Amino acid sequence: MSEDVAGSLPTPEDVLPNVPEGAPLLEVKDLKKYFPLTQGILFKKTIGHVRAVDGVNVSLRRGETLGLVGESGCGKSTVSKLLVALEKPSDGQILYKGKDVAKMGGRALKQYRREVQIIFQDPYASLNPRMTVGDIVAEGWSVHADIAPRKGRLQRTQELMDRVGLNPDFVNRYPHQFSGGQRQRIGIARALALQPEVIICDEPVSALDVSVQAQVVNLLEDLQDDFGLSYLFIAHDLSVVRHISDRVAVMYLGSIVEQGTASQVYGSPSHPYTQALLSSVPVHQPALRGLKERILLQGDVPSPANPPSGCRFRTRCWKAQDICAVEPPALVDRGQGHPSACHFAEAREVVPVDVE
Ligand SMILES: Nc1ncnc2c1ncn2[C@@H]1O[C@H](COP(=O)(O)OP(=O)(O)OP(=O)(O)O)[C@@H](O)[C@H]1O
Ligand code: SF4
Ligand SMILES: [Mg+2]
Repeated sequence: MSEDVAGSLPTPEDVLPNVPEGAPLLEVKDLKKYFPLTQGILFKKTIGHVRAVDGVNVSLRRGETLGLVGESGCGKSTVSKLLVALEKPSDGQILYKGKDVAKMGGRALKQYRREVQIIFQDPYASLNPRMTVGDIVAEGWSVHADIAPRKGRLQRTQELMDRVGLNPDFVNRYPHQFSGGQRQRIGIARALALQPEVIICDEPVSALDVSVQAQVVNLLEDLQDDFGLSYLFIAHDLSVVRHISDRVAVMYLGSIVEQGTASQVYGSPSHPYTQALLSSVPVHQPALRGLKERILLQGDVPSPANPPSGCRFRTRCWKAQDICAVEPPALVDRGQGHPSACHFAEAREVVPVDVE
């Protein structure tokens, strides 16, 4: 933590040892979440499942930002809820510092819940309207009292408010007295108060005006530099995560279809879905506008309760062939330099590389 905020804070006692340099802090292995679909009022009968998350593999290193991108309903928020233990996986594993979160209990689980924090899309809905900003920021200290002894809490809250760009004099104000961007800063201060290692940012800027989006993204980047934070940064638009991400994972209907460094995914996307998403990103430089291809996707996203056989993208894919209906494509490198879940993956420049 920075001098002014963390200097006076005691270090919590850790039961989860730190991982060696370069090893993943967080590892998600074949993660699945199926929600039951029920029928009947008195006697509920399960008639199927919504496969919200269906075999997600991702990892996150210390100080790294992984962008997770996909259309509405593809399972991004479910992944984030699973990661902060708000939902239980149907299958698969979440490893944190090498330990299986499902097998954690007692002090280890408490430490996990402290070290892995979340910021939500709608800052207003995620803040209790009846609590003052000061109480919201300090709320976590009632469970993790060792971080902030009762005596200096007001001062620490105000230091945190200052660090995220809020006026510390407003500590007794209520969420409705702040703008959308300021409310998101309150959410960031609340997460920061627990001295996290990882912050799951679930569309933290999607509800904000474009100019405010940039300010919040810049703040998150500053905090990452100061505190060595790792981010899983979720968005439905590839242009939002481009600036902040070291690596990007593209999600479609519950699973990852392409993954790579930001330059691989933006410069040489190889999955048709990534190519289509990129082609819909607006190009700001007039000189480059004509150079960009536009790939219009046909049809709607199929229901995760009844996904297509084989490749889930096949009902909207212009490259689909017979094998696509039969064999689910593995997320592997087929020679394009990074993993892509397409039998016919082929790197293709969709957006001119000079586009920032
Ligand atoms: N508690 C639940 N019970 C049943 N279905 C659910 C539940 N939560 C999510 N779903 C379903 O799981 C799928 C994935 O939802 P999720 O909220 O994870 O998507 P998302 O990618 O975050 O979408 P958005 O961009 O709109 O936030 C959707 O079809 C959704 O309706
Ligand atoms: S596997 Fe087939 S349907 Fe799926 S993205 Fe590739 S070409 Fe399209
Ligand atoms: Mg969501």
